[in-house]
Amino acid sequence: MIHIIDFGSQVTHNIARRIRELGTYTEIIPYIKADTLQDHLGEGLILSGGQYSVYDPSVPSINPDLPNIPILGICYGQQWLAYSQGGKVNPGQTREYGKTKISISRNSPLFTGLPREFNVWMSHGDVVEQVPPGYEVIAVSENGHIAAMQNLEQKVFGVQFHPEVDNTEYGRGILKKFDTLTGSPHDWNPGNRIDEYSRYILNTVGDGNLVVGVSGGVDSSALGILAHRTLGERAHLIFINNGLLRKNEEQEVIDAFAKLSIPLQYVDASERFLTALRSITNPDEKRKIIGHEFIYVFQEIAQSLSNITHLGQGTLYPDVIESVPIYGSSSTIKRHHNVGGLPESMHLQLVEPFSELFKDEVRVVATELGLPIEIVGRHPFPGPGLAVRCIGEVTPERLEILRNADAIFIEELHKRNLYKEISQALAYLTDTKTVGVMGDAHTYQYLAGLRAVVTKDFMTADAYPFPHDIINAICSRIINEVKGINRIVYDHTQKPPGTIEPE
Ligand code: XMP
Repeated sequence: MIHIIDFGSQVTHNIARRIRELGTYTEIIPYIKADTLQDHLGEGLILSGGQYSVYDPSVPSINPDLPNIPILGICYGQQWLAYSQGGKVNPGQTREYGKTKISISRNSPLFTGLPREFNVWMSHGDVVEQVPPGYEVIAVSENGHIAAMQNLEQKVFGVQFHPEVDNTEYGRGILKKFDTLTGSPHDWNPGNRIDEYSRYILNTVGDGNLVVGVSGGVDSSALGILAHRTLGERAHLIFINNGLLRKNEEQEVIDAFAKLSIPLQYVDASERFLTALRSITNPDEKRKIIGHEFIYVFQEIAQSLSNITHLGQGTLYPDVIESVPIYGSSSTIKRHHNVGGLPESMHLQLVEPFSELFKDEVRVVATELGLPIEIVGRHPFPGPGLAVRCIGEVTPERLEILRNADAIFIEELHKRNLYKEISQALAYLTDTKTVGVMGDAHTYQYLAGLRAVVTKDFMTADAYPFPHDIINAICSRIINEVKGINRIVYDHTQKPPGTIEPE
């Protein structure tokens, strides 16, 4: 295991993911819980970036004693290493931001086999001016600043740039070399830990009963299956149809569970949700109403079941760890739950067996548990469902139009082997009608949007660059086959400034 001390960088998760991809388990520790690094002894230690200065009086101090294991400081991590070990850090003299060229000035196991010069991603104001005694400079930036340092004897390294972001050339390779130096056994595979997750469920639920809301997404479905395998009839899996699902979605989920012979209680609450949403056009209000209705329906079901003591949630690692914001304090570090506020009056204890996993890791677990590829490989779908893709009022008629357009879009992507290349694809319906002509007839129908994005973390995203002939063919098919749409735009908006969902 490699511990990562998180100083609040936006990309700390990337470090954890990259190292886990190599088969080494990682855990992120917020810096305020890491005042003594000796307490975090795995095979190695990584100190993340962050937007602090080592001279910032509000940054809680960390004991400078370094444990005797390989250590890598990244950005602020390097500056902290330099400062705490007796080097000099120059505050705010310079700014290197974005792509910067570095030159390797001395051999280092971090850089073995790499070209002497390559581009890296920098984001810093302070610089290391003098390395600590026993350390040597191993790379210099094109601006003449210390870009990397090492103390080979102690296996302590610092890099001013971010090897964990894709914009750094050879970044993955550098992290891999550090991982190799730690001698980690590379035995991390989430699929091998299913027994452990199962034991955790058993120990937590004890003699009680667990309820799991299955949405059809990979996280809650995997949890549902595991809960059933572990607790049998004491696990109650509930699938609420909120009327905002995609075409055929309820049947697909029901069939998938039936095939696995796992009982799933299906509750059709679509009328309730759609009635509550009637004439609502404000996106925030839609979300609030859906959240309330969900709690209400869930509460009713839970009350009708006897002796429910626990609530299972497919919470993932990124939901659990929050980066410490700049100048943050312990109070800003909290767990946040993805159900979005089941009332405390329900007195249900949470069971979250996947809270150490990233999304791609839960996919491995889900596959291992026998979930079909249609569910495991599915693009994410938001809790408020099609309501946030139906700009303006959500009515059964408009939902039907949207469902049909979305189904054709997704079908075409599968047919053309593009679905896996795209991180999330969706159709949305606007509340604007436009004039068109079909055959000899004049039409006045809705304008729809198609959105397909590629992203790793869903925090930033690029529009998928469809070849013209493909997007044209897809648009034609939708306009020809879906009654109610006579015009389509392809959404080229990046995130940021856009979001992935239109509302
Ligand atoms: P945005 O639209 O914020 O979406 O760029 C980022 C990712 O989150 C999903 N999303 C949601 N998921 N409940 C969810 O469970 C929600 O309310 C919600 N809103 C957005 C969205 O589909 C995308 O994958």
